[in-house]
Amino acid sequence: MASHLLSWLFLLFQFLIFVYLVNRVSFHPRRVIPEAAWVILGTLFLFALQASLALGLDRAWDFSPGSWPALPVFWKFFTAVSTLWVLFMALEHLLWYGFRRQKVDARLILQRFPNHPPRFRVPMGFLEPLYIDNQVYDLEVAEYEVALPGWPKAFSGLSLVQVSDIHFGKYIHKNFLRMVFDEARKLKTDLYALTGDFVSHPKDIAPMRGLLKGFRAPLGVYAVLGNHDHWAGAEAMRRALEGDGIRVLQNEAVTFRRKGKTLALLGVDDLWEGEKREAPILEARGDAKILLAHQPDHFYLARKAGVHLQVSGHCHGGQICFPLIGPLIVPTVQGRKFAAGFMREKGTTLFIHRGIGGFPPLRTLCRPQVVKLVLKPA
Ligand SMILES: [Fe+2]
Repeated sequence: MASHLLSWLFLLFQFLIFVYLVNRVSFHPRRVIPEAAWVILGTLFLFALQASLALGLDRAWDFSPGSWPALPVFWKFFTAVSTLWVLFMALEHLLWYGFRRQKVDARLILQRFPNHPPRFRVPMGFLEPLYIDNQVYDLEVAEYEVALPGWPKAFSGLSLVQVSDIHFGKYIHKNFLRMVFDEARKLKTDLYALTGDFVSHPKDIAPMRGLLKGFRAPLGVYAVLGNHDHWAGAEAMRRALEGDGIRVLQNEAVTFRRKGKTLALLGVDDLWEGEKREAPILEARGDAKILLAHQPDHFYLARKAGVHLQVSGHCHGGQICFPLIGPLIVPTVQGRKFAAGFMREKGTTLFIHRGIGGFPPLRTLCRPQVVKLVLKPA
């Protein structure tokens, strides 16, 4: 019985380590080989490696604690490393959820689902008979009132509407996006924040022109570029966005004055592919600071720069979420902890948007969203 339990425990360890590595390695493509090859081949390689090790251990050991001392050194090392790795992950979670992560005072004040009844036929229809609900077009429009520590009274009530990870293309088509953008335009706001990954392929940049026109807000419409925008062509994407009246912030700050106080709106280039230039973010002066960053992993920079609120996307909420377990694929150095939603560490609040599109064209328990945040002092 004990050996049976132990064998399942080691299988679970391998699965947890696999998810850890996939999120931090194979879903973090490097420039050396194309993204798809890195992600697919990297994931398959990790799977094959861990499956072989798990099978090898199964042959070498009957999983009874009594026979462990007689195990060859290699397998002893493997079981020890696996156990320590899982303990490290558990400790990391404990530190984040128990001590570092702080509660965010965010109150949902509006929520609607404009695609009810459904207007578009969903892809991957073969999932329907399996009772898997593909929410790829099941847009949620949500408005939150968020209390931020240290947020100046002069900017109390300032609002932003965020749209992220559009990934315009075959499935995230114009008809669906018109509905998304109409919903975003309906929300009265002080500014719009579009947090990157507008397209996935270079061929989609030109057809997207004009689609993002018509956003109106007193403080303006701002965008940062994501990793996919860089892979598709950062310059062309930037020009297309500017042609639609959107200001692209690539390591820049824009300031606004209200009642004698300054708001610094900061935009950082993509963490993986963008130009690494932190000085304009770190040196920006402001009584209130908002950072637009495609990747949530720029949180270290937000904290260093004394930012009150960082808004990000990139992870698509994990896209495919499982009941009770949640998402598995969350490409950040924080892994599944940074899938979506609000979190705070000391004075810096982070909101991670679930995005609009993504690949594959499948979302389960993870609706695309348009979000309005109304900011108040805590
Ligand atoms: Fe994305």
